[in-house]
Amino acid sequence: MKKAIFSMSMVALIFSCSPNDEVTDDINDSVNTDFSGILNLPTDFYNYANPDLPNHFVTGQVAGIDNTPNNNPVTDEGATLGRVLFYDVNLSGNNTVSCASCHIQERGFADEGAFSTGFEGGLTGRNSMGLANARYYDNGRFFWDERANTLEDQVLMPIQDQVEMGLTLNELVSKIQDQDYYQPLFTDAFGSSEVTSDKISLALSQFVRSMVSYESRYDEGLEAVNGDEDDDFPNFTELENIGKDLFFSNRTQCSNCHETATFSGDQARNNGLDAVLTDLGVGGVTGNNNDQGEFKVNSLRNIALTGPYMHDGRFATLREVVQFYNNGVQNSPGLDNRLRVGGGGRGGNNNGNVRRPNLNGQEIDALVAFLNTLTDESFLTDEKFSNPFVNN
Ligand code: HEC
Ligand code: HEC
Repeated sequence: MKKAIFSMSMVALIFSCSPNDEVTDDINDSVNTDFSGILNLPTDFYNYANPDLPNHFVTGQVAGIDNTPNNNPVTDEGATLGRVLFYDVNLSGNNTVSCASCHIQERGFADEGAFSTGFEGGLTGRNSMGLANARYYDNGRFFWDERANTLEDQVLMPIQDQVEMGLTLNELVSKIQDQDYYQPLFTDAFGSSEVTSDKISLALSQFVRSMVSYESRYDEGLEAVNGDEDDDFPNFTELENIGKDLFFSNRTQCSNCHETATFSGDQARNNGLDAVLTDLGVGGVTGNNNDQGEFKVNSLRNIALTGPYMHDGRFATLREVVQFYNNGVQNSPGLDNRLRVGGGGRGGNNNGNVRRPNLNGQEIDALVAFLNTLTDESFLTDEKFSNPFVNN
């Protein structure tokens, strides 16, 4: 695993060093002369390929769960194209909606509604997902029900969705071809100006994978104690440290599903939101009864800003979420064993009672305070993730 990551970053290094200068000139010419009224891109490429990650991202578990495929490493040029596509309303049928309409940077790339509004005013069936650290998900699947096998598959799906953006791939390619500013961007990223839906998928995926959040107060604290999350963090309040201990305790089990420094899962799980399901989650995709009520455990990075919470946005605040885990978890055959007292194997002994951590008011406050330490202001305001269009 580690080896693969190393060789990947080598590839990225080669991409971002030597050919860069030439390519930068290209962008200078094109953007500053022809497209400056449309796009505001930097003279030098932003660094997407090699962010200055802290130790706890480079070594150990996090490096092992990177879902970047060998044929699509993040390059500065590719992610730059991806950024322009992400913010371009030409990706929707009536030029009203871009990816960023529902994935807003200052909201951790989620949006404020329980459901999101598509290009013709229709509502999505589920809550928009925050995109920070989507790159670090072990099984590499996407959406709440994990119906997309890869990010490269996922990014073309909202474009073709009848509610979200409403284009066919042919319409997409011809609309993108018609925008002159794309030619130099495709050439920089892929060596030719030809527009294909494959290249659009690769570039959007690179941009989404470049959205790594690693500068929260949690990260600063973890670095200060040399990566031992059991130690009190010197930059945390007492309440935040109590919340951290609770999060990593067997009493709450939080960290057994929201794992590693990215706080994401190794697979979809059933966290007991409902005893009787209205949304089958992964089970609706696989048709397997054992998967019913399982949903993706995506990263909790910037979670304070991505509410409302859960796949249907049922909880308005983090306090409501913590209160749910305290005494609201519903029993059903599919409930994950981590949320049962002395549960047996998955799909095995499913008769254990629901685990009730019995948190008092201060402990609930502490968990909420801890979740707030996962907010990363640099990520939320970093220009390299912001809207490059001058007028939208
Ligand atoms: C109309 C709102 C809307 C638009 C436009 C939209 N999305 Fe989403 N996005 C959502 C919703 C809602 C979900 C969750 C849907 C589900 O799970 O069924 C989601 C999920 C995702 C995920 C999955 C994250 C994960 O961890 O599994 C990614 C990645 C994503 N969107 C990227 C994009 C990209 C790239 C675009 C533009 C091409 C885009 N979205 C356009 C609303 C939107
Ligand atoms: C059995 C695994 C499991 C455990 C234990 C668990 N979670 Fe979750 N968590 C999930 C799943 C699965 C989801 C997504 C569920 C959905 O939306 O249907 C989730 C969602 C969340 C969300 C909302 C995420 C979003 O983007 O809307 C928060 C916040 C959260 N959990 C915090 C916690 C805290 C705090 C604890 C401990 C008190 C905890 N979780 C324990 C599996 C777990």
